[in-house]
Amino acid sequence: MRKTSQIPQASSNEASDLWSHWLLNTRHAGDSGHAAQIQKQLNGMRDRVLAGARLVPAMTLVDVGAGDGLIALGALEQFAGRLKVVITDISAPLLGEAQAAAMRLGFQHSCQFIQTPAETLTGIPDDTADALTTRAALAYVPDKIAAARQFFRVLKPEGRLSICEPIFQDAAAKLAALGLALQNLPNSPATNLARLTHRCRTAQIPSTAAEIQKHPLTNFTERDLVALFQMAGFIEIHMELHIDLNYGVPMNWPTFLHQSPFPGALSLFEAMTATLNREEQQQLEAHLRPKVESGQVTTRECVAYLTALKPSEAKHHGAP
Ligand SMILES: C[S@@+](CC[C@H](N)C(=O)[O-])C[C@H]1O[C@@H](n2cnc3c(N)ncnc32)[C@H](O)[C@@H]1O
Repeated sequence: MRKTSQIPQASSNEASDLWSHWLLNTRHAGDSGHAAQIQKQLNGMRDRVLAGARLVPAMTLVDVGAGDGLIALGALEQFAGRLKVVITDISAPLLGEAQAAAMRLGFQHSCQFIQTPAETLTGIPDDTADALTTRAALAYVPDKIAAARQFFRVLKPEGRLSICEPIFQDAAAKLAALGLALQNLPNSPATNLARLTHRCRTAQIPSTAAEIQKHPLTNFTERDLVALFQMAGFIEIHMELHIDLNYGVPMNWPTFLHQSPFPGALSLFEAMTATLNREEQQQLEAHLRPKVESGQVTTRECVAYLTALKPSEAKHHGAP
């Protein structure tokens, strides 16, 4: 059975890679209505991250793991191009997307594009950024302390950090606990359906203690983020955890089936195919489909926003 795939370490120069495939395709499964809903949520996160960065015209902003440019291009739009924005990512296809979008918007002269992992930020000199942002990128970085130290390195003294990261550990731990509970329940139609759903979910997200600890997306909590940036030398750290349960939004069944929850994760369709026989797949679809189409499925979003400051007179933290 194919399990949640590994986080790739570096991107190639292909037209598409795992990151671009998810961001541009499987995040919304090609459903433009669903893509518009996602975009609305993303815009809210973008605005919050940018507010935390406290930008003013002529500042230099470094956006790490910029993807197709949500935060970086949002900043340029907010300031009508009167910023210098360094757009970084490991994915060449996504840097290409961001570059094409910057050109469409007429911001190409305000942007620099650098293909680099967050763990090294190669090509960005020390003490050069007034602000550094990242959204849903640090979560995928295996060596988060190395990345936090790089954020510290490239920021000027009194430069601001503003980030927004998804927190998956609770959901993964809950899935692990449910698995144990289901083992001990007697068979019944409801328990059997719960077991089918659980088998599919465990193919999508890490769901054993070992997997949760191994996967960069699930092996940290919002409190670990606070400790991480404190360790890297930041001060005035402020973290807010937002948990939103969204209920009542009907979704097309094919969209629900083919979207994937995060880069590298199986879609429900792939998870069902990998874990259930034909009869079980039909049983689960009969149970889930009416709920999905009538908006009775609750989605849970758990996101940490963190801002911090690099102190004036700061020394670089190559080591703690
Ligand atoms: C979920 S997307 C978020 C993209 C963008 N920040 C946004 O808000 O739409 C995750 C991004 O992190 C990038 N990424 C993954 N691992 C990375 C790493 N080690 N260093 C830098 N970027 C990374 C991916 O290429 C992808 O663009």
